[in-house]
Amino acid sequence: MDLPPGPRAPAAWQTLAWTMRPAAFLRRIHDRFGDPVTIRTLWTDEPMVLFSRPDAVRDVFRLDPRVAPAGQSWEFLRPFAGPHSILVLDGDEHLRERRLIRTPFHGEPMCAFRPTVAELARRELGTWRGRVITLERMRDLTLEIILRIVFGARGEHEAAPLRDAVHATLDSVRSMPRMLAMSLVQRDLGPRSPWGRFRLAVERFDALLLDVVARQRAEPGGDSMLALLLEQRDEDGRPPTDRHLRDQLVALLAAGHDTSAASLAWAFERLARHPDVQARLRDGEPAYLDAVVKEVLRVRPALTIAPRRLLQPARIGGCVLPAGVHVAACLWLALRREDLWPSAAVFRPERWLEHPPPNPMSWIPFGGGVRRCAGAPFAEMEMREVLRAAAELTIRPLRAEPEQARRSALVVTPDRGGEVLVG
Ligand code: HEM
Repeated sequence: MDLPPGPRAPAAWQTLAWTMRPAAFLRRIHDRFGDPVTIRTLWTDEPMVLFSRPDAVRDVFRLDPRVAPAGQSWEFLRPFAGPHSILVLDGDEHLRERRLIRTPFHGEPMCAFRPTVAELARRELGTWRGRVITLERMRDLTLEIILRIVFGARGEHEAAPLRDAVHATLDSVRSMPRMLAMSLVQRDLGPRSPWGRFRLAVERFDALLLDVVARQRAEPGGDSMLALLLEQRDEDGRPPTDRHLRDQLVALLAAGHDTSAASLAWAFERLARHPDVQARLRDGEPAYLDAVVKEVLRVRPALTIAPRRLLQPARIGGCVLPAGVHVAACLWLALRREDLWPSAAVFRPERWLEHPPPNPMSWIPFGGGVRRCAGAPFAEMEMREVLRAAAELTIRPLRAEPEQARRSALVVTPDRGGEVLVG
């Protein structure tokens, strides 16, 4: 079976281009080969076919998990994520876990989290003067939000050791050379090897997380996500085990920390170059604030693909593909299609307020189908609150030219870290 066309360059070269300049790489292959396009990288054993046309994207999101288990694409996360993690499960197990983990993200709990997020955002942005590397600041802020709201850390004495342990664990996976070394040699070659160091960091982090769970069990109540997750009951009425809770907390951290930080850094990168948008944000109109969030996520999505591996042949967008290959809805290309988004490369929040508004079905920064981001309402609320706090500041770019996209582990970030001048 022939695969759609794609670059012939060796997988190592494509991996490098995909890592160093993901946006330029995607634009180039799309211009040259059209849609779909097949790429080869060192991240997957078989080629990956990328789709961005809405009908094909819908086909990818509707693939039966028995044909295309998405959890298998995140298998490399298992040593950190754990066996109960929503990220690595598929089929009925995944749906069961999804029902459980959804509770904190809807209705009343979501509203209750907002003031804490707003307060943490105001406190962070209130310190900004002069040159600020927003990606670093947003990593700290989104981690703080997770520690306080998801893990329910009560006070600095609980937050500080967790913060250190998260840094120790994530630093290994954020560094590209270290991640490459780890994925190539997943063996513990002693505590000084990348994999050995990573395993040790995960063990330390786990011990702290299990302490947090034990404390919450001993003193129930409070309004954290952990408190809500403790109230879960499965279909037989059984409460979650400690290891299950640990895996849920880690899933929320792994999926919700770097993604939100990258999206916010892009928001600052864009705002700095659009004083008109900053000025209008100052008016405090909620619909405009929401439009800015949606437009940032469209024009600079933090995740570029939603990948699946085919265990059986499947038809996607009219194209029959063999078992073994990987397929992906290419979020980045779909959000940049000129036929769906006129002047797609332009950051223009106003497009969301015009009539008719853009088709929400073609807005997929959170993916789609049964694996659509479970934390999307929280992520959007978090972005709104940070941008509300940012409206008080005057933000300028340090250099006029826009920042390029660069990959940092799984997410795409501004290559100069979203550097801005404040004041
Ligand atoms: C702007 C920030 C975020 C972006 C762009 C984003 C995007 C995504 C995407 C694209 C997926 C995968 C969809 C797929 O494979 O089809 C995903 C999955 C997920 N996200 Fe997010 N996410 C963000 C923030 C968050 C936050 C804050 C949380 C929780 C605190 C979260 C929790 C999850 C979970 C649990 C999944 C797995 C869902 C499943 O497998 O069923 N995300 N996210």
